[in-house]
Amino acid sequence: MSDMAGGSKTANGRGWLGFVIPSNGGIRIPIATKLILSFLLVIVLISLVFIIAGVQLIGNRIVAEAQDMVRYNLNAAREIYLGKLGRINDVVRFSADRFFLKNALLSGDVGSAAKELIRVRVMERLDVLTVTDPAGRILLRTSNPGVFGDDQSHDELVSEVLRRKAPVAATTIISADDLRRESSLLAQKAYFIFIDTPMARVRPETEETSGMMLKAAAPIFDFEHNLIGVIYGGVLLNRNFELVDKVKQTVFQDLKYDGKDIGTATIFQNDVRISTNVTNEDGSRAIGTRVAEDVYNQVVGEGEPWIGRAYVVNNWYITAYEPIRDIHDQIIGILYVGILEQKYRDLQRETVWVFLAITLLGVLGSMTLSYFISRTISESVRRLAFASREIAHGNLEAKVEIESNDELQELAEAFNFMTSALKERDRKLKEFTTKKIMESERLALIGQLAANVAHEVNNPLQGIVAYSHLLLEKMPEGNSTRPSVQKIVAQANRCTEIIRGLLDFSRQRKPLKQPLDANLVLRECVALVEDQALFHNIQIQRNFQENLPPVVVDPSQIQQVFMNMLINAAEAMDGNGQLTLATRCDPARKYVEVEFTDTGHGISEENVERIFDPFFTTKEVGHGTGLGLAISYGIIKEHKGTILVESEVGKGTTFTIRLPVTAEEAV
Ligand SMILES: Nc1ncnc2c1ncn2[C@@H]1O[C@H](COP(=O)(O)OP(=O)(O)OP(=O)(O)O)[C@@H](O)[C@H]1O
Ligand SMILES: [Mg+2]
Repeated sequence: MSDMAGGSKTANGRGWLGFVIPSNGGIRIPIATKLILSFLLVIVLISLVFIIAGVQLIGNRIVAEAQDMVRYNLNAAREIYLGKLGRINDVVRFSADRFFLKNALLSGDVGSAAKELIRVRVMERLDVLTVTDPAGRILLRTSNPGVFGDDQSHDELVSEVLRRKAPVAATTIISADDLRRESSLLAQKAYFIFIDTPMARVRPETEETSGMMLKAAAPIFDFEHNLIGVIYGGVLLNRNFELVDKVKQTVFQDLKYDGKDIGTATIFQNDVRISTNVTNEDGSRAIGTRVAEDVYNQVVGEGEPWIGRAYVVNNWYITAYEPIRDIHDQIIGILYVGILEQKYRDLQRETVWVFLAITLLGVLGSMTLSYFISRTISESVRRLAFASREIAHGNLEAKVEIESNDELQELAEAFNFMTSALKERDRKLKEFTTKKIMESERLALIGQLAANVAHEVNNPLQGIVAYSHLLLEKMPEGNSTRPSVQKIVAQANRCTEIIRGLLDFSRQRKPLKQPLDANLVLRECVALVEDQALFHNIQIQRNFQENLPPVVVDPSQIQQVFMNMLINAAEAMDGNGQLTLATRCDPARKYVEVEFTDTGHGISEENVERIFDPFFTTKEVGHGTGLGLAISYGIIKEHKGTILVESEVGKGTTFTIRLPVTAEEAV
């Protein structure tokens, strides 16, 4: 049961990604979670910028590339277009120069040339090949021999040849009537009913009856260079897909994308697609449809080429359009090439996906990484926290082992160092207190013993003292036993002195405390001893801090302590040296210190431990009782003060007595 409870607590309370709502209200978010979240935030932000900038950059680059390409493609398409016109021009010029035609015209029997001219027209895939007289009147239509005699001098090219007497070639618009005269088939071929498509230019008309033709005309001269006729030939561009398909094949190599031709070419008559490989939804050629309004305005309206994206029939293309001009430089149509934009859009989209995938991978990677990093950190922190709690509960054996070779390891080492320092301090404290307890027990025992002995011995001793004095008084001077009695008296006095000391030491009397100026007590004590022989050669230095707060003490007891200190110091200096007396109080005015510093023989290290023991003395037998410091210690302790000693053998000793300044202590 308890295991289960423990387990569930771990799952809820210590999950590395878990949010815990502690009792104090604020949400506790583990370091691991914070780390992972910040990692993620940074990565997602960077990736977003990366994607946006990258896609924009690559997208622009792709589109720019495509536009450059389409510009070159238009140049190529123009070359093919002009090549075809040149070819027609050549055929017409060579035919004009041929003998059989000249002879036929000179002999007045044009019909004799018909067979050969038809052969040329068919071979060269021309739609018309027609001969007129020098006035422009039709002599022979190879495509419609039945219709002749009409005047064609109004034709742009024929009139130009008649005027210049030189061959010309151009794109030209042929009216429906003229077409019909050339061949009814041609008029049919040129005829379009407009088909509406989205974004196409709006026009009130609904059909196109005239046609657009690549046409060349040349003068026919006799052998004396007199004009005897004109020959013209041409190819109707309407519904003729040779040119646009040649562009598609040679320029775009028939490449397809998603089932659609990537590259397309179109010839417009004015705004109508008359020859194209752009297809409708059903796959048929989009002839009869019209160019977009904005393209028309720029190319036909302003005569400027259009390079950019445009909506063509039913798709977006990256396009290039340029005007087609007639012999008078009037714009009569448009030449177009375009690349399906979808391919580039898809390329762009693919780039976005690739970028997104990379980002996702980055996010996953960094999440894993941050998971491991943060788990290591939080695990270490948890171990430290656990060990700290153990120590707080008194288990000083608690240790933290972290081998991460970083700050956490340093922290763990510092923690372990702190623990062992605590342990050591604890051990010393225990040792010290045990020693102190033993000491005070010992002192109490000795005190008890001393008090008993002193009490028991005191009465008989008083008898001895009293009777020995009486005996000495009664004994006449010169009595031979007098010296012995004198010795008894002296020794008895000495015993009294010891007994008094013992009684003092073991005295049960509580101090009668009152506020006193420590400086004053010390001054009185010094005044008492100064006159004694022992102090005659001692220089006394007084470093008193004035205005000390009063200490709350028993005056006679404190006096006894100070006297003891002064006499000990004088004795340690053998009556010769410097005695420095200092008083001061701490900044908080909680206690007063009185310091006695002599330049005496000092105390050896082993003796320092024992000087407060009763009966410990280094003085000769019969000179010191060894009770002075023991009594002083007892008194100061009773006053809740302390005595400290610092000494160096051969240099001197300093005793520092610290007394509290607590008003409550006063009785
Ligand atoms: N100022 C001091 N310089 C050097 N040693 C000292 C000093 N004061 C005390 N002592 C040492 O401490 C011992 C104990 O001193 P304490 O006053 O208890 O006894 P005492 O002076 O020997 O005897 P009594 O006080 O009865 O004359 C001294 O014998 C002496 O060795
Ligand atoms: Mg003494």
